[in-house]
Amino acid sequence: MPITTHMPAVDHDTVRRAAAEAADIAYSIPPISDTERQQLKARIHEQLVKQDAVLVAHYYVDAELQQLAEESGGYVSDSLDMARFGHEHPASTLVVIGVRFMGETAKILNPEKRVLMPDLRATCSLDMNCPADEFSAFCDQYPDHTVVVYANTSAAVKARADWMVTSGSAVAVIEHLLKKGEKIIWGPDKHLGRYIENLTGAEMKIWQGSCIVHEEFRALELKQLKAQHPEAAVLVHPESPEAVIALADVVSSTTGLIRAAAEMDNPSFIVATDNGIFYKMQKAAPGKTLIEAPNAGIGATCQSCAHCPWMAMNNLRNLAEVLETGANEIHIDKPIRDRAVKSIQRLLDFSQR
Ligand code: 13P
Ligand code: SF4
Repeated sequence: MPITTHMPAVDHDTVRRAAAEAADIAYSIPPISDTERQQLKARIHEQLVKQDAVLVAHYYVDAELQQLAEESGGYVSDSLDMARFGHEHPASTLVVIGVRFMGETAKILNPEKRVLMPDLRATCSLDMNCPADEFSAFCDQYPDHTVVVYANTSAAVKARADWMVTSGSAVAVIEHLLKKGEKIIWGPDKHLGRYIENLTGAEMKIWQGSCIVHEEFRALELKQLKAQHPEAAVLVHPESPEAVIALADVVSSTTGLIRAAAEMDNPSFIVATDNGIFYKMQKAAPGKTLIEAPNAGIGATCQSCAHCPWMAMNNLRNLAEVLETGANEIHIDKPIRDRAVKSIQRLLDFSQR
């Protein structure tokens, strides 16, 4: 395999501590009673009309939030598609239920709209361990390289990039750049970077970030589970470690994995991605059995086994509150926005071709 050049300084301990804090916040909220649930939903529906707002949710947030987005005329999808929907929908306020980079992408594509989020502290480990100034210094070392970044990054990192890509589009974009003879810097997900290299033969300069949820999936235990369920197909998100990807029948983005569960003939699926996806996957594949892929397990190193602690910070209470107060609005400095939109637009234009 090609040798990649590594960026040395990524502070995993800080990221792990932040994930543990997010999990504490997410799981320490008092339970919501049925009566309160009904009242919160009524308040949210009322405010959506009053504020000319629409809910745009990611597959990884709690099922009841996904359900609410759907039943109120909003949308549930992957990160890029969420931004596209927000752009095409006539509402003047987008309420993005996900993590911060998703709200930022929505704002970059829709500068004239108000973009709110239930909790602005909901970040992503990939975004966290790719600070814009350090990443920019890394890129400066290779001025003749094209900078390609994953969607899970801040607006400032997107502004430093030539291209933004998603897990569903990364391989096609890198193949396109290779054909043009371009040298490539990839960031921040090292596992997705390695997966792209293995598929395309590219030799990229790779930033060493990772997703704290996906990197906890375990190959050895997955092999054993596969043996117990020979009828099951293994569906893996490419943010997972190489050894887990090697056991996959399908490696794809969140939307691609849902499609695979719906279209493949297997009666069951072992799924290596955030378990929030099970809500939409089960709807798309009724009657099929969905099994969580094994991870490090509670009490081990994993703070957030198979469920992103930052996605879990979204709930009915902070959603109702943000709609009523207008708090947690996303703002992006114009010079950053003007540069970041170019890297996103490149992908949108490329996908249209
Ligand atoms: P998608 O872009 O497929 O929605 O994935 C986002 C994500 O955070 C995966 O962990
Ligand atoms: Fe980021 Fe991983 Fe959470 Fe996705 S699941 S938002 S990549 S930390």
